Amino acid sequence: MIVTTKQLFELAYGKYALGAYNINNAEQTMGLFQGNLESKAPFIIQISKGARSYTNKLMLEGMIRAADEIFPEAVFAVHLDHGDEQTCYDCIDSGFYSSVMIDASHESFEENIAITKRVVDKAHPKGISVEAELGQLGGVEEDISVSEDHAHLTDPAQAAEFIKRTGCDSLACAIGTSHGAFKFSGSQGLHFEIVEAIQKLVPGYPLVLHGSSSVPQDEVERINAAGGALKGAKGVDPNQYLPAAKLGVCKINIDTDGRLVWTRVHREFFRDKPEVFDFRPVGKIFQEEYAKFIASRNKLLGSAGNLDEVRAALNK
Ligand code: G3H
Ligand code: 13P
Ligand code: ZN
Repeated sequence: MIVTTKQLFELAYGKYALGAYNINNAEQTMGLFQGNLESKAPFIIQISKGARSYTNKLMLEGMIRAADEIFPEAVFAVHLDHGDEQTCYDCIDSGFYSSVMIDASHESFEENIAITKRVVDKAHPKGISVEAELGQLGGVEEDISVSEDHAHLTDPAQAAEFIKRTGCDSLACAIGTSHGAFKFSGSQGLHFEIVEAIQKLVPGYPLVLHGSSSVPQDEVERINAAGGALKGAKGVDPNQYLPAAKLGVCKINIDTDGRLVWTRVHREFFRDKPEVFDFRPVGKIFQEEYAKFIASRNKLLGSAGNLDEVRAALNK
């Protein structure tokens, strides 16, 4: 059942965070639904601009509609990840998306406000909520690369002003995470004091954490042992997901970790079975491994086990 992101945030706020997982193909979609149902969790499906052009945006919509039929018990929202203005409008007009992210965080504060406000004004009359971003994460997202020197953390006072002036429904804030598999060069931690300060200024407001993959070290070791070259890959401590949720983080974005599962499964499979050229056996293993991974994340996010309650609340 596709629901609004707003409904899911209201139910999760202060208790747990929703896993926001990116999808690109059918195997990932199947594993995603299976993992969320096995762990009885509501969730958010994210579609990036890159995913929309990997096959075709309609292919992704078709897969999600099909998965909704195959798994009628699933409760989820569909979200555009890191949209530019035109892509946001395309998703708003499609009538398929529950929410869009307008990412103008690389623009000046005033320009970010102006762009975000235009998107909010188009989205709200259609019942679609808008996530915006203030501050800049390091790493690469879509076609924009931000070096560590240029990444900067969100200023809480600016965040409060930004929320008020744009009317955006949730805010992605930069607290020290970054996109990709190489998040920390040393022992840098996350700045929860920023989340706390924003919550003091805007109580009850849903915040979002991007760049939250944990980059499991056993996964990295297995990839490297099977021919990969991911030296020094490091992620967020997943035991920080729930404390973040209790402070008002409602959505935690995880994409890289799923790519690591895919890479490990495929590298090991073809290393061990060089004679095989049917892609279905390995695709099946990936679906199962991805489902296990999703279930394990949902436990750490606190979203696992909430499906029946969410369903009951939405059916009231
Ligand atoms: O933050 C970006 C997400 O990981 C999506 O990545 O733009 O390569 O699909 P992508
Ligand atoms: P990761 O690269 O840490 O998985 O972050 C994903 C993300 O923020 C998607 O928007
Ligand atoms: Zn992101």
